[in-house]
Amino acid sequence: MTIFLTGSTGFLGGKLLNNLLETTDHNLYVLVRDIDKANHLVTELNAHNRIQLFKGDITQPSFGLDAQDIDELTGKVDIFYHLAALVKFDEELRDEIFSINYDGTKHALDFAKALHVKKFFYISTAYTVGRRDNGIENLYPMDGNIHNPYEESKVNSEHLALSYWDVMDVSIFRPSIIVGDSKTGEADSSFTLYGFMRALDVFKRRVMRNSSNPNRIYHVVGSKESTSNFVPVNYVADILAVAAKKAEAGVIYNITNPNPSTNYRLLTLIKNALDFNQLEIIEDAAPGTLTVEEERLNEMIRVFNAYLSRSFDFDDTNTQQLISGTHIKHLNMSDETTQMIIDAYFGL
Ligand SMILES: NC(=O)c1ccc[n+]([C@@H]2O[C@H](COP(=O)([O-])OP(=O)(O)OC[C@H]3O[C@@H](n4cnc5c(N)ncnc54)[C@H](OP(=O)(O)O)[C@@H]3O)[C@@H](O)[C@H]2O)c1
Repeated sequence: MTIFLTGSTGFLGGKLLNNLLETTDHNLYVLVRDIDKANHLVTELNAHNRIQLFKGDITQPSFGLDAQDIDELTGKVDIFYHLAALVKFDEELRDEIFSINYDGTKHALDFAKALHVKKFFYISTAYTVGRRDNGIENLYPMDGNIHNPYEESKVNSEHLALSYWDVMDVSIFRPSIIVGDSKTGEADSSFTLYGFMRALDVFKRRVMRNSSNPNRIYHVVGSKESTSNFVPVNYVADILAVAAKKAEAGVIYNITNPNPSTNYRLLTLIKNALDFNQLEIIEDAAPGTLTVEEERLNEMIRVFNAYLSRSFDFDDTNTQQLISGTHIKHLNMSDETTQMIIDAYFGL
């Protein structure tokens, strides 16, 4: 089988590439923006005989590949995994987010169609659920019921992807918040949980330098009993790899955690790892009640507020069916695993 991938220099894509190299004998065609970075990766993986690199950019039609590359790929690709995206939530970055996430997906779909690809796997996010409480394994309406342009770009891209059902088999995979490897804790990411932990780390260093009272309490606004839905990167990569054989056309798979930790528990684990016990969650803060430092802290983590202030229930029945009869066990992530993943980030 021959597989084409976008986004394999990223956190999830790197793990998936590794997984496909180790567990299959598929030929891998990999789109990269930076050929030197990718060559380094291929050398590290000792995989020059399995991986062929193509230099391109998903914001360009046909990724800007030349006629010779396109010719070489036409009729050769069995499965197209589209992972490349900009995982940022800021409203100020709306145009860039849409250019990479939505236009990039349109280019990927059109390119796959031109290459006569048989199966197209679109990697979306569980947070296309937007402001709803229950995550289903169907499309959500494009009704603007979302928190940020990232979610919006992914909702629209899911609709676009499934509209190509008549030219190739399209399946959609929706991970929740991807965290480090469940065995090693390793994570090559600075977004989502990692952006949140970095912000708390920076804040701690700043207040420890400047504060005269080392025991002063700092409040993070969020809901203590709400949950944060984490999935280890190796669980997601395992599922995507197995999907090559088992995914069905037109089906959406939520790759989510059936028993997520509460934010209170999560903040406790991060506080322990950071050795910063002065952090506390408060449910709400009336205007003017937060100190200047607390205002600054909550501003630093503003983009995460939508996820800290509420819980989502995700149905992952399709994913459970996909992994049944395989080596993958339905996710059961313990507090110890979450602690190990958090500790690994702080080098503990
Ligand atoms: N991380 C999460 O918690 C999470 C959760 C749910 C879903 N997802 C989805 O999973 C996928 C992978 O996420 P990730 O966390 O692995 O992201 P990541 O680490 O930021 O990797 C993004 C990848 O996309 C590539 N890319 C970005 N813009 C590109 C462009 N214009 N042309 C070509 N390639 C481009 C990057 O290439 P460079 O190396 O050149 O930058 C990199 O390989 C995304 O679709 C994301 O939406 C992620």
